Amino acid sequence: MGQQDKTRIEQLERRLSREKAARLASEKLLDEYSAKFFSANEKLKQSLLIAQRKQEEIEYLARTGFSISDKQDPDTLITSTLGLTADFCKADMAVCFFTKNGQLTDRCISSASLPLNAEHKDMLQHFVPEDCADILDCWLIENISAQMGRSCWAVCANFTYSEDALGWLVLIIPANYIDEGLLYLLDAYLKYLRTGLAKSLSTQAVDRTASSMQKVQTELSATKQQLVVADRMAALGFLASGVAHEINNPAAFIIANNNSMKNMMPPLFELANNYAIACRNGDQENIVHCENELNAMNEEILLMLEDNEYGLNRIVAISESLRTYSHFGEQLTDTVDLNECISKMLKVAKTSLPDTVSMNFDMAKDLQVIAGNASQLEQVILNLLVNAIDAVNEHGNVDICTRQVENEVVLTIKDSGQGMDDVVKAKLFSPFFTTKDVGKGTGLGLSISQNIIDAHHGQISVESEVGVGTCFTITFPCSGN
Ligand SMILES: Nc1ncnc2c1ncn2[C@@H]1O[C@H](COP(=O)(O)OP(=O)(O)OP(=O)(O)O)[C@@H](O)[C@H]1O
Ligand SMILES: [Mg+2]
Repeated sequence: MGQQDKTRIEQLERRLSREKAARLASEKLLDEYSAKFFSANEKLKQSLLIAQRKQEEIEYLARTGFSISDKQDPDTLITSTLGLTADFCKADMAVCFFTKNGQLTDRCISSASLPLNAEHKDMLQHFVPEDCADILDCWLIENISAQMGRSCWAVCANFTYSEDALGWLVLIIPANYIDEGLLYLLDAYLKYLRTGLAKSLSTQAVDRTASSMQKVQTELSATKQQLVVADRMAALGFLASGVAHEINNPAAFIIANNNSMKNMMPPLFELANNYAIACRNGDQENIVHCENELNAMNEEILLMLEDNEYGLNRIVAISESLRTYSHFGEQLTDTVDLNECISKMLKVAKTSLPDTVSMNFDMAKDLQVIAGNASQLEQVILNLLVNAIDAVNEHGNVDICTRQVENEVVLTIKDSGQGMDDVVKAKLFSPFFTTKDVGKGTGLGLSISQNIIDAHHGQISVESEVGVGTCFTITFPCSGN
């Protein structure tokens, strides 16, 4: 081998060892990179798992929160959120028991996806500390791997279900799912549930209050109606003596006239007989006498019959006004002429009016009709008239006036009576406020009148001065306004 070949071999050997060293170095680098890549990949996988779990947690919390904010009754709320929680925890069993006065009841709610059999129910009930009446601060946790024959935990917490009942959630969760994070989420669920149930219970209480208020309102309006009727009857009672007097007067003279006519019958027959005999005998003197007598009796009887007719008409008129007055209609759909109502009530009120009181009605000719209930409006007018008659106390004036003012009908009832001081004026419309003697006034007249006026969209106001008199003004919108 020549010198040239040796040099060539040495060169090749050096190159080979350089390349070997380079290959080793690159292999080492490759190992290092693949180890780094592997660990990065593992970290990525773990991060992905954590992200997935976080997403599940967020979804779980969002769905539970949504269930709770949704307007649901307590049982639906418990069923839906218990199901979501059982799925999220991969629970083997999930159930809600109830205790009342420290005793377990038969009722229980289980998650729809995990139906509960009797055996499991018995077993799970043991985890409920039934005599505990307090709301727990956190979940009770117990390792029950021995009882269950697999690695798992029982978790239990409670909430207020109703005024006298507690609800108890019991979940059996595989041990590999239990960790701090899960318990933190279960705490959040428990807070959601308690808040949701408190809201649902208070909504139910509000609904109950609303319905009982509705009931009270219905009862109140029924009572108001009864009061209207009672007031009507009271006013009728007040008028009864006047009415009786008014009916008794014509009745008395009808009876007296009847008696007189009855007494006149025998002399009348006798006269007729005498007249017939005188005619047969041609006894001119007796004929003239009998004719004069008969004419006189005829006139007397005619007068008595006219009187009776007048008396009977008065009785019919009084009974007609009372009939209209005592009729009680609820509809506010009549077309009412207030002048007509006043005229009718004046007839009724005048029956109890002493001669020393003068009552005048200045009636507007252009008065428009109003929409309402004629008999109720008559009741208002009569109440005010009776008050005015009472106030003048047998001496004075009561002036009634109607006026059409733009689209309103205005009625004033003015008396020259005792008037009212500020104390009486302030309480005037309060039910049962009266200054009248016991048995004379119920104190309902004005309060009921105000109710009726309100129902007709009208207004009532009063001006009064002690010793001078009182003026009530009532306005009603005309029909169609
Ligand atoms: N025109 C009036 N003048 C003076 N006081 C009046 C007049 N109208 C009402 N009052 C006072 O207002 C009170 C209440 O009147 P309201 O008509 O409500 O009841 P009442 O007349 O006492 O009893 P009732 O239930 O029989 O009508 C009367 O007791 C009286 O003191
Ligand atoms: Mg009164």
